[in-house]
Amino acid sequence: MRAPPDWRAHSANDSLSRAEFDPIEVTDPMRLSEEQLDCYRRDGFLILPGLFAPAEVAALCAELPALFAEETPANFREKHSGQVRTAMGLHRRNDVFARLVRHPRLIGPAMQIAGDRLYVQQVKVNMKAAFGGEVWQWHYDFATHHGEDGVPEPLALNLHVFLDDVSEFNGPLYFIPRSHRNGPVPACLDLQTTSYPLWVVDNDTVAALVAEGGIVSATGPAGTGLIFGDCLVHGSPPNMSPWHRRIFSLIVNPIENALTRHQRPDHQHHRDLTPIEPLDDDCLLRNLAQAS
Ligand code: SIN
Ligand code: MN
Repeated sequence: MRAPPDWRAHSANDSLSRAEFDPIEVTDPMRLSEEQLDCYRRDGFLILPGLFAPAEVAALCAELPALFAEETPANFREKHSGQVRTAMGLHRRNDVFARLVRHPRLIGPAMQIAGDRLYVQQVKVNMKAAFGGEVWQWHYDFATHHGEDGVPEPLALNLHVFLDDVSEFNGPLYFIPRSHRNGPVPACLDLQTTSYPLWVVDNDTVAALVAEGGIVSATGPAGTGLIFGDCLVHGSPPNMSPWHRRIFSLIVNPIENALTRHQRPDHQHHRDLTPIEPLDDDCLLRNLAQAS
């Protein structure tokens, strides 16, 4: 594991107790420590520095140009710039991403939090393109999962891997720590603001939550991992920098909590409820070597 970055430098709100967001020493990347689990439960998210190595990130990034070039409804484009905003269903479209969704460094921690019987709900890379990546409004994922797909409870997890270095400049995710604690807040479907329909949280609610929890921007080098829960309020600003910001996102959900409505296409919420079985830790690179 590489040395973790100094997360204190990235807290967007000086009123936060910065010490709370110090990195935690990681001993086994496939198992969260009790301290990490406590942090996740308390804050609603967990940052995992150095989760994937540069060679693994490079193997994933090598697949992206061809996937982004495909004309498919699973590639959503930005409303204004026309650049790819999010490319979905990637494990169905690409072998390397098919392995990543079964990676033990993602699925091990997810099973500790959400149980052993998980299915792949959504798989994507959110591309916030240099100069053109647009806003993701304030929202929490369960509002969409419940409102669109009839998911009963906010038990899904969003697992991220940074594929580029993410800084304050290129559109990092903003989290409102502890915003998950009282469960789902009011949300409504926004079909106007961006190219992607999203159930969003209004400004008054965001202001009240931020008054309690502040804002943290999730920044770090490529290879950083994030885990956050279904009720955590988050968003991200536009990318006006010359640097792309690509983040892999895997949403997993307990099978017992599966979708009850099928109104969205499969790439937005997969219907295959087969339990995820983790592969070996070296699955990304070993299999690549065998294939070449
Ligand atoms: C983003 O990619 O900036 C937003 C991702 C999310 O809402 O999960
Ligand atoms: Mn989200």
